[in-house]
Parts: sequence; C-alpha cells; structure tokens
Amino acid sequence: MSDKNLPVLEVENLSIGFESDNQLVSVVEDISFTLNSGETLALVGESGCGKSLTALAMLQLLPAFGKILSGSIKLHGKELVGMSDRSMQAIRGNNISMIFQEPMSALNPVFTIGQQVAEPLILHKNMSKAAAFKRAIEMLEAVGIPDPISRANNYPHQLSGGMRQRVMIAIALACEPDILIADEPTTALDVTIQAQILDLMHDLQEKFGTSILFISHDFGVVSRMADEIAVMYAGRVIEEGSAQDILVEPQHPYTTALLNTTPRIDVSVDRLPAIPGRVPTPAERPEGCFFAPRCKLASSLCSTEQPLPTKLSRSHSAACHEVGNG
Ligand SMILES: Nc1ncnc2c1ncn2[C@@H]1O[C@H](COP(=O)(O)OP(=O)(O)OP(=O)(O)O)[C@@H](O)[C@H]1O
Ligand SMILES: [Mg+2]
Repeated sequence: MSDKNLPVLEVENLSIGFESDNQLVSVVEDISFTLNSGETLALVGESGCGKSLTALAMLQLLPAFGKILSGSIKLHGKELVGMSDRSMQAIRGNNISMIFQEPMSALNPVFTIGQQVAEPLILHKNMSKAAAFKRAIEMLEAVGIPDPISRANNYPHQLSGGMRQRVMIAIALACEPDILIADEPTTALDVTIQAQILDLMHDLQEKFGTSILFISHDFGVVSRMADEIAVMYAGRVIEEGSAQDILVEPQHPYTTALLNTTPRIDVSVDRLPAIPGRVPTPAERPEGCFFAPRCKLASSLCSTEQPLPTKLSRSHSAACHEVGNG
C-alpha cells in the first residue's frame, strides 16, 4: 500500500529535559532514528532509559515540566517540534496513534467500546455517527473481537485485558494512521495473549501498511516484531541497526548484556545472568560513557570521554570506545 523504505518519521538529535527549581535536567540526550514506511522500529532498554518520554515527545504529550530542549522530529518531512497545539491535535489519532501498556486507564469507562472506536472517525474523518459506528464494528471484527455487533455495546470493564488491548488497537488504527506507537503494549498480558496481540499487530501492519514504533524492555518480544532496533541506555541510543545486526551481531557491551538476560527457547539455563548495578538516574550520570560503571570492558578512557556513535556498516552503528578497536 505504501512505499517501503521511505522515511515516515525522522528524529534528529532530539533532547528532552525537565525543569525543576529553575534547573533544567536533560533526560533524553541527542537521540536520532528513522522509521521507514511499513516497517517496525523497536526502542529497547531497561526501565528509566527514556523510551516512554521519547514516544510521548513524538505526539508533543510530554508530562508537566517536560520539554523538548533541542532537535527535530519530522513526519513526512514536516517539522513537528514547535507546531501549534491545534495542528498537533489534527495529527494525533489521525496520522500518529499510540497504544499503552494498560488499556483500562486509556479507555473511558462511561462510553461503550463501539462509541470509543467511532470517536476518532467522527473527529478526524468527518464521518456521521452512524457511518462511524458501522466502521467501528468492522474495526472490532478486524482486531478479532468475537461477535462485534453486540460487543460494540459493551463497556470496557466487561472485557478481558487481552480484549481491551484489541479495542485499543482498533481505536488507534481506526483512521489508518501512518504511524502506530506501541509503548510496552503486551507487558501487562500473560504470554499466550501476548503472542496473539503481537501476531495481530503484525497482520494489521501488513493490511494497513502502518509503520510501528515499538517500545519494549524485552528482547524476546522485540525479536518477533522489529525490522530495525535502537538500543537505549540512560537517555542515549547506544547501538542501532537492523534486527539481524543487533540480535545476531551485537557490538555494544550493553546490548550483549541485555541480550544475555533474555530467555531463549533453544538454550536451557538454570539462571539467566543479570546485569550488575542499575541504570543511573539523570542526576547520577557519570562523565564519559554512562554504561562504564557497569561495563566489564571499560578502560580509563571510558570514564572520561563520552563515546560517539560510530558506523560499523551501512545499517549498523554503536557508541563504544571498545567497538571497532580490535
Ligand atoms: N514527570 C517526570 N518528571 C521528572 N522526571 C521524569 C518524569 N518522567 C520521567 N522522568 C525521568 O525520565 C526518565 C525516563 O523515563 P521514561 O518513562 O521515559 O523511561 P522508560 O524507559 O519508559 O522506563 P520504563 O521501562 O520503566 O517504562 C526517568 O527515569 C526519570 O528520571
Ligand atoms: Mg516507559
């Protein structure tokens, strides 16, 4: 449907920070990535590394006191940073949609699910109530809600967690957006349902040609979904490449360590190795490489100088003093 490999979303040198007591603390620093048409780009990293803030920045929905400090976010070449609220409202739910970990908090308890799937169609596509409700039932069917005509009259609390996440996907895809941002969409679900939702997202991506920005801390889930992967650590992208580059030939010691903590079906081990230590908070970030205090390979250079991303191949880059040295 859409031209594959054309950039849909281009993020360049984006930094995000918070203002408190007249001080600006930068949380996400200088990240760049490109999401291509019809592809899935995964942002992966441990808790607190800035994945959700990055996602929210795409929609200009940062929490209070949070702001974009510098950088650029382009949708089909059009700059979103600095765009008016009114123009952003026309983009949210229409060109870019988002689904979250906990659908119950995103769904409105006082409206039926049919009404909630119909709403963006009335708002963005100028549909009549009747036409939007008819389309909503088709969308509920497309996301695998059984008996969608009667289910459309249910309220969110009458559905299971997995069904609610399907409804969220129906709402998000109702206007056939260019981009779906999925922030840990299956973390709250048990593994069987998780696999069903991931398969569903994959099928709908094929059907609608949607590009997906997929956020997760779990390489197991990411390996099922991603074409491209950007690994984040303490607010920075430390390695980026095709899924093959990252999953088969990871170069950054953090990526390798994170992959080693991921259970694999083909290897049975008693205990998975954990990465010692934890992600530093923005205030605790050391000079030099942020990962150095936890890194087995760290040299004295690593604790004084921030490594810059280095190209390893056309698709693959990593920010590590030890990579490419030999
Ligand atoms: N409202 C806020 N005010 C101040 N700092 C914040 C706020 N929200 C997030 N931060 C800071 O930004 C960091 C990154 O947060 P973010 O929610 O993007 O992490 P994440 O990678 O999505 O983590 P998780 O996997 O736990 O969802 C946090 O660790 C915190 O230091
Ligand atoms: Mg998050």
